[in-house]
Amino acid sequence: MTDQKYTRETVTGMTEWVPGKLFSITTTRDSAFQFEPGQFARLGLPASNDHAAEPTIWRAYSMVSTPEDDFLSFYSIVVPEGEFSPRLAGLKTGDPVYIDKTAFGFLTIDRFPQGGNLWLLATGTGLSAYISMLNTPATWERFDKIILAHGVRTCEELTYQDEMAKWQQQFGDRFVYLPLPTREAYKNHPQERLTSLISNGKLEQLSGLKLDPETSRIMLCGNPEMLSEARKILGEKGFAAGRRGIPGNLAVENYW
Ligand SMILES: Cc1cc2nc3c(=O)[nH]c(=O)nc-3n(C[C@H](O)[C@H](O)[C@H](O)COP(=O)(O)OP(=O)(O)OC[C@H]3O[C@@H](n4cnc5c(N)ncnc54)[C@H](O)[C@@H]3O)c2cc1C
Ligand SMILES: NC(=O)c1ccc[n+]([C@@H]2O[C@H](COP(=O)([O-])OP(=O)(O)OC[C@H]3O[C@@H](n4cnc5c(N)ncnc54)[C@H](OP(=O)(O)O)[C@@H]3O)[C@@H](O)[C@H]2O)c1
Repeated sequence: MTDQKYTRETVTGMTEWVPGKLFSITTTRDSAFQFEPGQFARLGLPASNDHAAEPTIWRAYSMVSTPEDDFLSFYSIVVPEGEFSPRLAGLKTGDPVYIDKTAFGFLTIDRFPQGGNLWLLATGTGLSAYISMLNTPATWERFDKIILAHGVRTCEELTYQDEMAKWQQQFGDRFVYLPLPTREAYKNHPQERLTSLISNGKLEQLSGLKLDPETSRIMLCGNPEMLSEARKILGEKGFAAGRRGIPGNLAVENYW
């Protein structure tokens, strides 16, 4: 086992948020597994239902838990026709799940210079990576305000509400949470995609803050079409990823 690239972990909990669509899974964590908030792990499962079989199917999942936690947790969609996610959703407490020893990814706060406002924009399970960041004190020490905008299809997909309430209570107006269901009305929020809200200026109105390229740092995570459209709109407003040692004001993570 020691020469292998992965460790065998154990499922310690499952939370079903939306039956057949959204769940969270908690596992044991190997003490040598290190990561930064915003990074992802590669989870593996055998192709058969034989728990003793070696893992052959691997998928990326952003850590929801923080580097300080002695467990790992992940937030997942169920893609009914997918090879991996229905299998992951079917795991029970005590079942094995395999995790690559290396964490990956560059959606981390050290991509950005200190200060200014951090805008965390997600669709669907793209929320995962941000929960780890928001539960890490260094994130709050690095930025003035943090705006979290979460685009989902329906209201029931506005998950992790206890965490949202916790940050609102803890950080007051330093935390701006914008829940954005697109296929159902939700309170007085506009029923529009994040991309429209960026281009028509409503995201700024809703948050009461300017998307100023000098003082705003933006992360985008989730649906790749949303990412590419948002990148284009934000590019025209002066946002770009960093390169060759020059820190940028935009960082993105594609989920498929
Ligand atoms: C860097 C990275 C981080 C990721 N982190 C997460 C995460 O934290 N949570 C998570 O649920 N998924 C995450 N994913 C996606 C995940 O790796 C799997 O693709 C997903 O769980 C579905 O696996 P599957 O084998 O069932 O279907 P796949 O064959 O992998 O995907 C089939 C199709 O399902 C759709 N799809 C895949 N993932 C999603 C999704 N997350 N939301 C909506 N539609 C999707 C796409 O249309 C895709 O073409 C991440 C992917 C990457 C690359
Ligand atoms: N009943 C179900 O819907 C159901 C059940 C089980 C599993 N699933 C699985 O769930 C997957 C979808 O997951 P999801 O709903 O989390 O992801 P999603 O389709 O990416 O939708 C999440 C949010 O992103 C928005 N969005 C999509 N494309 C965008 C773009 N180009 N620009 C800006 N915003 C965009 C959506 O708006 P819009 O609403 O305007 O598209 C929605 O608000 C399906 O592929 C399916 O496999 C679905």
